[in-house]
Amino acid sequence: MVGMSRRVAFCLAFYAALLASSAHAQETTLLVDVDHRPQISLDGPWHFIADPYREGWGSNPEHASLNGYAKNAHYVPGGPLVQYDFARSPTLNVPGDWNSQKDSLLYYEGLLWYQRDFTYHPKPHTHVFIHFGAASYAASIFINDQHVCDHQGGFTPFDCDITGIVKDGDNFVVAAVDDTRTVDRVPTLRKDWWNYGGLIRPVSLVEVPDTYIDDYSLQLQRGTQDQIYGYVHVVGANAGTHVTLGIPGLHIEKDAVTDTNGRAEFSFAAPGLELWSPEHPRLYDLALRAGYDQLKDEIGFRTVEVKGDQILLNGKPIFLRGVSYHDEAPFRSGRSWSEKDAQTLLGWAQELHCNFVRMAHYPHTENEYRLADKLGILVWSEIPVYWGINWTNPPTLDAAKHQLWEMIRRDHNHASVILWSMSNETPESPERNAFIHQLAVEARKEDPTRLITSAIVTHFKGTTAVLADPLGQDLDVLGYNEYIGWYQGTAATIPDYTWQNPMGKPVIMSEFGAGAKAGLHGPDTEKFTEEYQDNVYRQQFQMMEKIPFLRGMTPWALMDFRSPMRQLPGIQDDYNRKGLVSDKGEKKKAFFTLQDYYAKMQK
Ligand code: GCU
Repeated sequence: MVGMSRRVAFCLAFYAALLASSAHAQETTLLVDVDHRPQISLDGPWHFIADPYREGWGSNPEHASLNGYAKNAHYVPGGPLVQYDFARSPTLNVPGDWNSQKDSLLYYEGLLWYQRDFTYHPKPHTHVFIHFGAASYAASIFINDQHVCDHQGGFTPFDCDITGIVKDGDNFVVAAVDDTRTVDRVPTLRKDWWNYGGLIRPVSLVEVPDTYIDDYSLQLQRGTQDQIYGYVHVVGANAGTHVTLGIPGLHIEKDAVTDTNGRAEFSFAAPGLELWSPEHPRLYDLALRAGYDQLKDEIGFRTVEVKGDQILLNGKPIFLRGVSYHDEAPFRSGRSWSEKDAQTLLGWAQELHCNFVRMAHYPHTENEYRLADKLGILVWSEIPVYWGINWTNPPTLDAAKHQLWEMIRRDHNHASVILWSMSNETPESPERNAFIHQLAVEARKEDPTRLITSAIVTHFKGTTAVLADPLGQDLDVLGYNEYIGWYQGTAATIPDYTWQNPMGKPVIMSEFGAGAKAGLHGPDTEKFTEEYQDNVYRQQFQMMEKIPFLRGMTPWALMDFRSPMRQLPGIQDDYNRKGLVSDKGEKKKAFFTLQDYYAKMQK
């Protein structure tokens, strides 16, 4: 038995280390419109250590030890025993997943440490945040061996206040990133895409004055053509702090004051306002100022709502000519993050005459939303509540709610975004219904201006689909996935299927399609040929034309994407081949069939 005094000493030391390890760790935040703020980029090569045994983490599963790799110690010949050294370790590029950068890491899942040095000079009356565009899946961040923050969720940004922790001159950052799949995470163990890990989006330092704008929202009032309302939230502001809002393109200059919560409300008429729409993606420069802080943005104004089984954009019924896609980089695989990636992916959607895209199954990189605003492409944005999630586990619900909050917070000023999707293909159960109900309630609270949806598995009685999943009660628009002609039936039988919509809500066919290996040709009855895929599309169109309440479609999928569920050699080779374009950019037969179909629809 350890003597009392030694146990007390041990516990005290343990808790001191625990306290020390999380002394500085604080809640992450999310600064809206951060990409329009001046930033000090930390992108480029970072040293890395893959740590499958969590050697650098220490014994406390909750918090990494400050005596582990977070310490960033260096090996000195003849010096104390050090069994790692970032400075001697290879590098990975940030932004970028680790899997597609090193063959040895292609299938690596687990803990991986990133480290880089940086120089910084603190300024008076200035806060500095370290901003992560996204870190897949969980990240613990250390600056100069101080634990500054933790974050969960692989597809949304977060900001950590490191004011007072960064020194004048040399500093270092260590990021412990862990993409282990677990039953409690969102998404969870099994999914039809590869679990890319790492610092997958840009990292930077962001400076703001002591009093700064962390959030704002400006929207067009439903049912109006020119009534704008919204708020600006200022951190550190005393009540009565003046906030000015300017929209030079509309000769608008408005002033409001903050309340005790730092919130300034705006509501004003905007005569001559040009509404944002796919045909006319009009964006206005916006300038916000509060104290010494100012924020610029480009924003469009439009309304979206449902009326019976119609979706109305700016008060008019619209049909959503869409396509679904993963945030995978064209031509080079891995996670997409660059402007070029966004231009290629949305460029193909435009070539298809799309006015809509479903960004599956998680929030994509923000520059795709920015480009969608500019190109006039409407967006379905989704959180990765995908297939079977641990519905009854409170931390899992918290994780889903947090990703939802971050998705809405980052993107609620993008005119292109019209639909928030709560989930994809989740098996019906009371626990699932309750889980997603709570998400829908949260989403409506955070953003009452957009529509709530989910992608639901279609169940058939023979060749009849009755769209009655109870989840629909919480939704404004019903997304239904079906794979007639692929997982069930043959292509020829597709037109025989009929659809019933007892809830009378607008329906989007959120997935349908077939696999095809680019360049593989043969009879249209042979799966994986381009002819088979093309035929499925043609038959699907025939069926869908007979569905009176269909308000949109997002075939699966724009581009082939990596998935360990797809292992047929010579055809799939670790890729889901349902793309209309291969991962190498080869357009398949069905691409042109859909292009023609949407071109006719557009007329
Ligand atoms: C599902 C799922 C997709 C998947 C697709 C497929 O519907 O939502 O993530 O890739 O089917 O089987 O190809």
